[in-house]
Amino acid sequence: MNLSELHSDKQPSVLITGGAGFIGSHLAPAFLKIGFKVRILDNLSTGTLENLPVHPDLSFTNCSILDENALKSLAGFDLVVHLASVVGMKLAKQNPVLTYQTAVKGTNNILKYTGNTPIVLCSSSSVYGLSDTGIKMREDAAITDGNLLDYDGGTLGYACGKRHMEQLGIAAAAAGRKVLIVRPFNVIGLRQVGTYGMVVPAFIQAAMADIPLRIFGDGNQTRCFSDVNTFVQSLIRLLSIDLAWQPGSNIVNLGSDQTVSINALANKIIRAIGSASAIEHVPFKSIFPGQVDVQNRLPDTSYSKSLLGDISWPNIDDVINTFLDIRSISNG
Ligand SMILES: NC(=O)c1ccc[n+]([C@@H]2O[C@H](COP(=O)([O-])OP(=O)(O)OC[C@H]3O[C@@H](n4cnc5c(N)ncnc54)[C@H](O)[C@@H]3O)[C@@H](O)[C@H]2O)c1
Repeated sequence: MNLSELHSDKQPSVLITGGAGFIGSHLAPAFLKIGFKVRILDNLSTGTLENLPVHPDLSFTNCSILDENALKSLAGFDLVVHLASVVGMKLAKQNPVLTYQTAVKGTNNILKYTGNTPIVLCSSSSVYGLSDTGIKMREDAAITDGNLLDYDGGTLGYACGKRHMEQLGIAAAAAGRKVLIVRPFNVIGLRQVGTYGMVVPAFIQAAMADIPLRIFGDGNQTRCFSDVNTFVQSLIRLLSIDLAWQPGSNIVNLGSDQTVSINALANKIIRAIGSASAIEHVPFKSIFPGQVDVQNRLPDTSYSKSLLGDISWPNIDDVINTFLDIRSISNG
């Protein structure tokens, strides 16, 4: 898919489902900047209108991807980026059925009602389930439903939903549609909220209030945190790479491979803020009974590098500082 060709005849248009959420709030302005008309479809369950810029080329529809009647007039876009999802461990645990249905039925609806338009499906690193031996997770890794079910705590939930969503995309691609499946790894940045279990904003909020930072488990688990601006720019570059749309080559890990332990993350945030907060370790099972935490989540980025070249992901300290710079400006 050549973005510059789209520009040649008429103004290109993109539908972003879930676009009023955290990632959408960065993706929508990025598409506006390169000349797209942007339609956001979101039920505002976790997203907000305040996340979106006011712009003549941006329009908004408040509806759920589960509401088939409301989706019937969706054809006519040049591109769909499907972000809508129940996101965050807290929400997924509270309502696994809705989480799974949103991923599977919701994606099926979006595939059905957007015609044959090229579509990006936003999956997740959770599709690697509990395969966390410290080995980098590669796009072609064997993934079993049993492993995903263990990750979801024995009920079809977020990880199973994302995997089954991918399979809908793979089937659509086999039938001739352009489908690109992206697996983000812990995207962070401004406008992400800590309310639903996202660790960085939750830690920053606690550290700002000088209350304890709660770590689930011993804190030695590691993650890779990916700056949202770099994520969005990489995703947009990916759209122009034909190989990324080819069936069999259309699943891409997108994220930083710089690991940090959750203990180190908490300490960095406390230090950056100059907070008096303590660190409190809470047994993972007391918060998520029946579930097991992933010990190390680390992407193999060789495929994304072969498509995009080296991506220079800002390090975690720099990303934490962008949160703090903006907060100090808005507080001052
Ligand atoms: N942020 C991350 O670290 C991360 C990591 C892996 C995958 N992802 C994926 O990226 C996408 C965007 O995530 P985010 O971090 O911006 O989360 P978010 O919660 O901020 O965004 C999700 C958006 O989907 C909307 N939504 C939920 N259910 C809907 C429904 N039934 N109909 C219409 N809209 C609905 C919400 O209101 C919200 O605006 C999701 O698909 C998520 O699974 C995010």
